[in-house]
Amino acid sequence: MIFTPVNKPAKPPIKNVILAITGGIAAYKSAFLARLLIKSGFKVRVIMTEGAQAFVTPLTLQALTGNEVHTELLDESAETGMGHIELAKWADLMVIAPASANTLARLAMGMADDLLATVCLATAAPVMVVPAMNQQMWAHPAVQLNTQTLGDLGYTLIEPARGEQACGDVGAGRLPEPEVLLEQVLHFATRQSQPQILAGKQVTITAGPTIEAIDPVRYLSNHSTGKMGFALARACRDAGAEVTLIVGGKVNLPTPFGVTREEVLSANDMLQAATESAESGCDIFIATAAVADYRTRDAAPQKIKKTQESMTLELVKNPDILATISQEYPEIFMVGFAAETQDVEKYARSKLAAKQLDMIACNDVSRSDIGFASDDNAMTVFFANQYKKQPVPLEKASKDNIAQRLVTLISDTLS
Ligand code: PMT
Repeated sequence: MIFTPVNKPAKPPIKNVILAITGGIAAYKSAFLARLLIKSGFKVRVIMTEGAQAFVTPLTLQALTGNEVHTELLDESAETGMGHIELAKWADLMVIAPASANTLARLAMGMADDLLATVCLATAAPVMVVPAMNQQMWAHPAVQLNTQTLGDLGYTLIEPARGEQACGDVGAGRLPEPEVLLEQVLHFATRQSQPQILAGKQVTITAGPTIEAIDPVRYLSNHSTGKMGFALARACRDAGAEVTLIVGGKVNLPTPFGVTREEVLSANDMLQAATESAESGCDIFIATAAVADYRTRDAAPQKIKKTQESMTLELVKNPDILATISQEYPEIFMVGFAAETQDVEKYARSKLAAKQLDMIACNDVSRSDIGFASDDNAMTVFFANQYKKQPVPLEKASKDNIAQRLVTLISDTLS
């Protein structure tokens, strides 16, 4: 028999979310998730299985969501207001968190033996399933088989997190933290409602500063925080691209959900990671990293003692990552950034030509309200001659907003 996915994509935008909670110690985290979903602007209705009510009371969820909690399939009072069919129709998205092993099995079988399972069959909304259980149970072939079946049926599976479990075991099976789950829901909602203008594209982005060792305790670096590169990673991901983010230095930002992050330190490390990424298939390369132009000729193997009144460091030039990738992989669409403090247009145009780029986004890093470390940026984008495009100014806005507009420009230029 051929199973066709039963959960057709919901129509954008996603506003109404059913949060379904099953029996497990992680059920308490769902109360936090309900709160975060509401704070993010979603309308939330909660379904709780009998098992879930052993861990958290419906009253808690009712107080948090401001809505009656649904627990019974055959509940006369619910049937008059919002029965299982109305509930199924109301939802734009259903999130089952935590999903117990028992629930996975029931959904994989297509059973309709309680409200949760019945709504899953009756809804046309997409269903995200977040399994959470003891690590040994999660590893069991029957549970894995049911999970795979749910994937085949069109459910969206969220991998459980690894770590210490309530029972004392260590391994995979923890419910991800509510903030992480919220990010996944937001990502899912954005993808549903946003045109996938980079669908099928592989994008590599460099971000942050590089660190060039002087000795084991000291280094040369700069003020880049990685914010611009991370914003671009989110924007490319939301536009449907598969994103690899090569992060230099000591960037302390959370990895955007769904993005592959690679940590490097120096310019040489970054070049190696960039080359590997280009080699393994890359359509668009975006260089937001503030790469140190020079490194010490030889980093001292031991801490340098401060015995002299003055000292001289001999610096040698670092490889130019952007220019190297552009030269060696001419098929990749190359987007550079230019950090300038004066004669912005002149320097941007000369970098565009010298590094053989398709586009360059030029920001004025002498301003304290944009550029390095700020949450905002402003820039002018210049294009290679063959595109015959006038420079496009992107007026001051959040780095996320600037990144989204850059992604649109990239997509327009590519097509
Ligand atoms: O990280 P944030 O705090 O959010 O700050 C963002 C930013 C200001 C760092 C960013 O918007 C920015 O301007 N990045 C480019 C910084 C830079 O090094 O510019 P540049 O003009 O020196 O270099 C030109 C281009 O060549 C850049 O794309 C750079 O990544 C690349 N380059 C430079 C030198 C080198 N050895 N290898 C490179 O790939």
